[in-house]
Amino acid sequence: MRIIVTRKLPDAVEQELVSKYGARLNADDHQFTRDELSAAMREADIVLCTLTDDLSRATIDAAAGARVRLLANFGVGFNHIDLAAARDAGIIVTNTPGVLTEDTADLTMLLILAIARRASEGERELRAGRWRGWRPTHLLGARVTGKTLGIVGFGRIGQAVASRAHHGFGMRVLYHSRHQADAAIEHRTGATSVGSLEALLHEADFVSLHCPATPETRHLINADTLREMQRHAFLVNTSRGDVVDEAALIAALDEGVIAGAALDVHEQEPVVNQNLIARESVVLLPHIGSATVESRVAMGRRAIANIEAFVENRELPDRLV
Ligand code: DGY
Repeated sequence: MRIIVTRKLPDAVEQELVSKYGARLNADDHQFTRDELSAAMREADIVLCTLTDDLSRATIDAAAGARVRLLANFGVGFNHIDLAAARDAGIIVTNTPGVLTEDTADLTMLLILAIARRASEGERELRAGRWRGWRPTHLLGARVTGKTLGIVGFGRIGQAVASRAHHGFGMRVLYHSRHQADAAIEHRTGATSVGSLEALLHEADFVSLHCPATPETRHLINADTLREMQRHAFLVNTSRGDVVDEAALIAALDEGVIAGAALDVHEQEPVVNQNLIARESVVLLPHIGSATVESRVAMGRRAIANIEAFVENRELPDRLV
């Protein structure tokens, strides 16, 4: 089996891929162009890909009749892969769910706290030598403990955030999701389902996005939905950039429609809107929700588990199509 890996992976994962399969690695970690991706699909039986690979229908069709049979995605989100095009081409696609839940939920709490307590502003001020010492009215933020958190999308990560917020910070947690969770999950996480997104936006002091990026969730947060939020509320996004209409978000921040936003994901990654960068009331991170050694190694091992099952002709644990 010939395997091509499209990005640099943690050493332990690369070693396993090379020792077991002689996989071809991406030593300089450059982002593959569409042509390189099509070429990789022509050369290899398995392409171990990531969210920076444009596996749209155009790319998949350009590799028509290719050798590739499995796209083993390193990551849980798969909006960069056209699943229908893969299915049409007879290519199996897998992802790596479950193993990055805790770290992404931790980072969500970090963003909630950072935006509420103005942590980035404070650090920028201190590093720039502008701090004039303690004073009663310096960098006053908003309390997190006891506030209402609205979670949009209640899969593994949304649930893990709910547990942290409810049990750790005494927050009232509401969620909105396509499916209502089991009573046992609601009990464990302390979260209550609300029937509509609007109802959640009306009530939440913090709105945190955990839905997948699909055509239905593209710009779910837009000028209209932002207007449903409270003026003192904060928006937090660790899901995918295009769930938020960034132009509408910037206008909402300009007009004081909401108080601020904390974003780990961006509409045009890795380009980040200058208008957001210029703003104090925004916390910006470079898509690091799952960026711990533990999660990234576990994601690699999960991708390898799918590859192993494919090579041994067993059922694939995380098959999407
Ligand atoms: C994923 O797995 O989809 C994340 O966004 C990468 O951490």
